[in-house]
Amino acid sequence: MEKAEIGLIGLGTMGSNLALNIAEKGHRIAVFNRTVSRADAFKAEAGALADRIVPCHSLAELAEAIRPPRPVIIMVVAGKPVDEQIAALRDVLSADDIVIDAGNANFHDTVRRFKELEGSGLTFIGMGVSGGEEGARHGPSIMVGGTEESWRRVEGVLTAISAKFKGEPCAAWLGPDGAGHFVKTIHNGIEYADMQMIAEIYGMLRDGLGMGPKQIAPVFAGWNEGRLASYLIEITAKVLAADDPQTGRPVVDIILDRAGQKGTGKWSVIEAQQLGIPATAIEAAVAARVLSSMKDERLAAEKVYGAGGGRISEPREALLKDLELALLAGKIAAYAQGFAVMAGASKEFSWNLPLPTIARIWRAGCIIRSQMLDQMAEAFGKGGAAANLLMAPAFVEMMKAAHPSLRRIVALAAEAGLPVPALSSALAYFDAYRQGRGTSNLIQAQRDFFGAHGFERIDAPGAHHGPWGGGQ
Ligand code: 6PG
Repeated sequence: MEKAEIGLIGLGTMGSNLALNIAEKGHRIAVFNRTVSRADAFKAEAGALADRIVPCHSLAELAEAIRPPRPVIIMVVAGKPVDEQIAALRDVLSADDIVIDAGNANFHDTVRRFKELEGSGLTFIGMGVSGGEEGARHGPSIMVGGTEESWRRVEGVLTAISAKFKGEPCAAWLGPDGAGHFVKTIHNGIEYADMQMIAEIYGMLRDGLGMGPKQIAPVFAGWNEGRLASYLIEITAKVLAADDPQTGRPVVDIILDRAGQKGTGKWSVIEAQQLGIPATAIEAAVAARVLSSMKDERLAAEKVYGAGGGRISEPREALLKDLELALLAGKIAAYAQGFAVMAGASKEFSWNLPLPTIARIWRAGCIIRSQMLDQMAEAFGKGGAAANLLMAPAFVEMMKAAHPSLRRIVALAAEAGLPVPALSSALAYFDAYRQGRGTSNLIQAQRDFFGAHGFERIDAPGAHHGPWGGGQ
């Protein structure tokens, strides 16, 4: 039988869709699943693509079915299952074969796995895949970490299955070992911030203006025609317009306000902290999800304090304009933070992450795809965003036009008692970032007072101490 070009383990939703995508692009693919019968069922359900699918009933069979050197994609739950699969694959694969972890792995695990496989002859690739089910099936954004040589060997199939932005594939090699999974983690951190800020704006429309989902949906749909055009704004409009078939009520109104999370947002914040790069909007978004899960405590606190959420009396049209611009400004700040974290990691781990390429492969396929990412790609490409996206000329212009609206919205929200943690963190970040003389001179004085930590002077070099007379 003709050998397959590639293998895939894990026929869950993402794995199945990725396998169908690979088959559709003309590649023969061998598949294996822990529940062995699933592989046969998968082929049976694959319709016209079935001819290119080789169901395997053991890992040995999978290895046998693929033409060496074998690339094998693992698409299983992140964590221990990945280690178990790798261990099992080591018994059946041979030198030069490539194991590709396409799950949402913690990049530290990817670095470890990469090292563990070094010297075994097998090569490891950590591959971030974004775009959800639809993306996996019809074109995800693909972020690859590993050796450049291993990338060259899988580049053909990965670029073929990736999303395309104006014909350019949204798949790229981003650096060694954990680089791809790190970038995917930051993608998700930004995704958290994006989603949280959209939810905050929704809250202002719902609670501040008293608008129902059916009235809010066209607002987002309208914004999707402008500078905010993006997948997340587009689906927000669709979500708000949808009705629950059981009750006939808007679906959003019957969904419990408790957000789940699988960990990538949290990892992005942990890494930002480790690297010493402020990512306040992302941090606020992760914290907001945690707070959202404390439903019972929130209900109890509402009884004690009363709910916030007073009405906003601004004229609706003017407020809508401000909300759109506030979201734009908040979004720019959140992306500036995400890219700054990647720049920091690139230095720390000597990855040489190509920021313009990252912006380019996020322009289509992934969850945070947006029109603005095209402008970011251009800004990073020109080098103007090297220090921070907020310093790129095109974004300076946008931010100058939009931050007054963000300021008004955060102020109105605070007055009304409406929580906007990500938007207000973004604003505080912007204000602190652009403040040439901040207030940490006082912190330095306090540190020196109680701990003799010393401080720098504005008028003389070296370390100095204050006239505290021996401290406390
Ligand atoms: C993507 C998504 C994807 C997934 C996350 C959601 O880029 O396709 O980010 O990876 O939706 O797992 O994460 P949470 O469950 O943490 O929200």
